[in-house]
Amino acid sequence: MSLRTVASVAQPMVDTRVTWIDTNPEAAAALRTLLAAGRAFFTGDSETKDRVVPDGTMTGWRKVGIEYSVSPDRPDLNETFCFRERDDRAGVLPAALLQHPLLHACRVAQKHLDAIAASVLSDLSDIVGVRNNVAPVRTMGESWLQLNWSTPAVVERDFIQDAHEDGHLITLLLADADGLEVLPNNMEWLPVLPTPERVICFGGECGALLSGDAIAPTLHRVRANKHVPSRLSVAYFVNPDLDQELPPWVATTRNASVDLLRWGQENPARFGLPYL
Ligand SMILES: [Fe+2]
Repeated sequence: MSLRTVASVAQPMVDTRVTWIDTNPEAAAALRTLLAAGRAFFTGDSETKDRVVPDGTMTGWRKVGIEYSVSPDRPDLNETFCFRERDDRAGVLPAALLQHPLLHACRVAQKHLDAIAASVLSDLSDIVGVRNNVAPVRTMGESWLQLNWSTPAVVERDFIQDAHEDGHLITLLLADADGLEVLPNNMEWLPVLPTPERVICFGGECGALLSGDAIAPTLHRVRANKHVPSRLSVAYFVNPDLDQELPPWVATTRNASVDLLRWGQENPARFGLPYL
């Protein structure tokens, strides 16, 4: 029997594969600012975007068609902008980005989202019973923020992103319009609209491996709703920093030979799913 007396943020992930997290006022404000800066960027001039195309970094703008969920002939129908703190710290970002308000908005928003991620991971380690024996997982440097910009009303497919599972420890998500659908344990697709005030969190394959499958990756997709002219979403893909030890919290046959530190980067998503 559980002796827990404090509301758990991670327990719903164990029970139903998703959890909702109310953000504090500072975090909500930072996320609203990020959405505004992101909209200004994606609706701004193409010259600025071209100047921040990634050059050996995760950070930067990528046009439609780079990522896909099921097969290359079904690309995700969104532009993306990614921000990774390690790129920022290395001093390799282009001048056009250093001068752009989006960069500052990303820096501030990531600090809040990483604090939320730390709390989810700490709670999850508590649930699986190892909290007193492991150091907190540090995630600030190797995680990345990803802004996805789409125009659902005019795309010719039903889905902007086909169903897939993420490969990271966990994923935090919010958006400024509907379209996201998740598949919790009831096996019925559930439309959700996470916001700056209330973000959704679900597990990825790396989190499943770390926790000895206490959590499982969550299938999700983005529907192209025709009443939505444009949509901006923010994902925080949480990966462990490389300069730490990260043995599995619970050893299993599945995680016995896995390098958890690199799993999320090398396997950001899982396709070819049996449900499709
Ligand atoms: Fe995803």
